[in-house]
Amino acid sequence: TTLLDNAAKAAGKKYLGTATDNGELTDTAYTAILDEKGMFGQITPANSMKWENTEPEQGVWTWTDADQIANLAKSNGQLLRGHNCVWYNQLPSWVTSGTWTTSTLTSVVQNHTGELVGRYKGQVWDVVNEPFNDDGTYREDVFYNTLGESYIPIALTAARAADPNAKLYINEYNIEYQGSKATAMINLVKSLQSQGVPIDGIGLQSHFIVGEVPSTLQATMESFTALGVEIAITELDIRMTLPETAALLEQQKTDYDTVISACRAVSGCIGVTVWDFTDKYSWVPSTFSGQGAATPYDSNLVKKPAYDGIIAGFA
Ligand code: G3I
Repeated sequence: TTLLDNAAKAAGKKYLGTATDNGELTDTAYTAILDEKGMFGQITPANSMKWENTEPEQGVWTWTDADQIANLAKSNGQLLRGHNCVWYNQLPSWVTSGTWTTSTLTSVVQNHTGELVGRYKGQVWDVVNEPFNDDGTYREDVFYNTLGESYIPIALTAARAADPNAKLYINEYNIEYQGSKATAMINLVKSLQSQGVPIDGIGLQSHFIVGEVPSTLQATMESFTALGVEIAITELDIRMTLPETAALLEQQKTDYDTVISACRAVSGCIGVTVWDFTDKYSWVPSTFSGQGAATPYDSNLVKKPAYDGIIAGFA
């Protein structure tokens, strides 16, 4: 069988990658697939680089888990997507309940972003994650409430200063179809560009539902690359209402093919990351009750039809 990253590279893409997490790395049947040369050309830490894990107290840095994933990527020759610098979720309480002024929170954002991006150089970074509400307004988190939208240029500028060679992304969900949220992303990128703020890419998370992959996906991707930035599918999974059936698994195969084909057709789409490759470790069942089976391998680490859908999409 063709391996996933080999198929992506044969299609002219930089990688087919996966999210992974530290607790999974003791599962040798899992790591045998993760580490196989040609299978995954890129990895994203699902949790270990998030703020609560890297700077749990102000100025106190805990790198063990993040380093474990970074070192694994290095030893496997995989690109690392750093995830993430600034996000409303998985923040330590010193950030969410701090008493901030514009000046003190600016320093905190600069410092945190700079430490992360400077520690793992030459990589791709989700510098800002999920800045928008679904209606395209800004999410009112601690950063926005104190700094307004300026927290975004503050973080991107600090990231560029920490590593001139890093690729800097804004990553978001529900921007894969046209509407207020995708338009808000386009307007944000235009505004950053007009201010001379560094921005290299837009990440489309792509947490989809079987049978409901947006028909405007490719057109939306093209509206992003028309801005002169690259794009990537950063967190792909396609969930279903359980139990899985042969018909649902076939539709899922078609859906994976559709998503990968859209990336293949758009030259500025540089790669695709699945949000872990096996149902054994998918985040979906714990968040969407009664749903799951969203990834290309089942919970016994056996390939599903979706695997062949990915290969077909790159062909
Ligand atoms: O580590 C603790 C463990 O000590 C504790 O016993 C256990 C009990 O709940 O929780 C563990 O933490 C969990 C953590 O994953 C590590 O497994 C958290 O509860 C759980 O909320 C957390 O979920 C993560 C989720 O982000 C949180 O927002 C998922 O693993 C991770 O895959 C998911 O990833 C996000 C992206 O970062 C952004 N886009 C959406 C995507 C899916 O939600």
